Amino acid sequence: MRFTKGAAVAAAGLAVSLLVAGCDTSGGATATGGNTKEVEVFTWWADGGEKAGLDGLVGQFKTDCAKFEFKNGAVAGGAGANAKQVLASRLQTNDPPSTFQAHAGAELTDYIKAGQVEDLSADYKTWGLDAAFPKGLLDSLTVDGKVYSVPANIHRANVLWSNKKVVAAAGITAAPKNLTELFAALDKLKAKGVTPLALGKDWTQLMLLESVLISDLGPDKFKGLWDGSTDFASADVTKALGDYKKLIGYANKDRDTFDWTDAEKLVMDGKAGYQLMGDWEAADLDTKGFKDYDHIAFPGNDTAFQWLADSFVLPKGGKNPEGTKCWLKTVGSAAGQKAFNTKKGSIPARTDATAADYPAYQQSAMAEWKTGVVVPSCAHGSACSQGMQGAVASAIGKFSSDQDAAALQKALSEAQKQFVTKK
Ligand code: GAL
Repeated sequence: MRFTKGAAVAAAGLAVSLLVAGCDTSGGATATGGNTKEVEVFTWWADGGEKAGLDGLVGQFKTDCAKFEFKNGAVAGGAGANAKQVLASRLQTNDPPSTFQAHAGAELTDYIKAGQVEDLSADYKTWGLDAAFPKGLLDSLTVDGKVYSVPANIHRANVLWSNKKVVAAAGITAAPKNLTELFAALDKLKAKGVTPLALGKDWTQLMLLESVLISDLGPDKFKGLWDGSTDFASADVTKALGDYKKLIGYANKDRDTFDWTDAEKLVMDGKAGYQLMGDWEAADLDTKGFKDYDHIAFPGNDTAFQWLADSFVLPKGGKNPEGTKCWLKTVGSAAGQKAFNTKKGSIPARTDATAADYPAYQQSAMAEWKTGVVVPSCAHGSACSQGMQGAVASAIGKFSSDQDAAALQKALSEAQKQFVTKK
């Protein structure tokens, strides 16, 4: 397992409109904090495969922690685009949920350095978690020898999904293996009158750009972008931005108003051929009953496995720490990981899972996780801090309308100078 510990810290600050799901499935408990049994779990898993995964975990929590009650604090919006803003203001006003979802790596480090989460090292020992997770993953949850969160899974970000029928109807007979072949396939889809590449807003565009950067720079130089050893102002990046611009030319024009599920719907409805998205899409397509899909690593990424991990923390000053610890213990347990990951499209973070217990997609991901070259994700916090993520996402959002590649490169380079501490 070849993990990279992500870069350092900063704070986010994007203004967004909020879609608060916040539905209470606890069966009676309402006011947060008014009920000592209540464990408010704050995520952005409100629908489809994401909700199915959360429901699996909640089922296990009900068995393991019967004296406590689950309160759903989900705030809808892919990749936590809305949830993170709500969370930031709750943390600022000293109103933390019992636990919240945080990505392993630099994003979690932000919360640790801000003193917002508790050290779980002693609980790791009590629950036997030290030995349950791979060392590289534990490193991404640890600062100064103390471990701060319990990982639920490993997701892969750099996956290209397709509608099999649409792709076949366009005469694409073999999966594209590099960017040149991808452009040829996109041309065929364009000639058929469908949207070649379904795309959503800022963070989904960042995922696409990251995949192109992996193809053009290779995994090592790509990793260097996030620890400062590769310069965002370099000629390799200029070439990648040219390819990225070309790719955007094949995407739907209304992308900036789309969440990832809106882009996914274009694929499901046969209106688009491909979509780059993390492997939560596998669970979501399954949950929605769509079967005609295929998946490959993004062309040119070869064996690069772009990882991210969802984890749960014990916030400082959170309500019901005892109930929260029961939740965290369930998250880290073999049964909890199975209940969650079989439904979520991700693979278990624990190393003792049985592949045969999982759907076909996760079985293939487990095999690729073992043999692939591991690279982190900026869009999903394993590679960069929330400050860097915000700066990069807004530069990309601007590019989506002005298509100025030189300005994009300059903005990326400035973000790197501001937020990345050179190793
Ligand atoms: C990621 C998260 C995944 C999935 C995805 C889309 O940031 O780690 O579990 O939820 O966002 O919302």
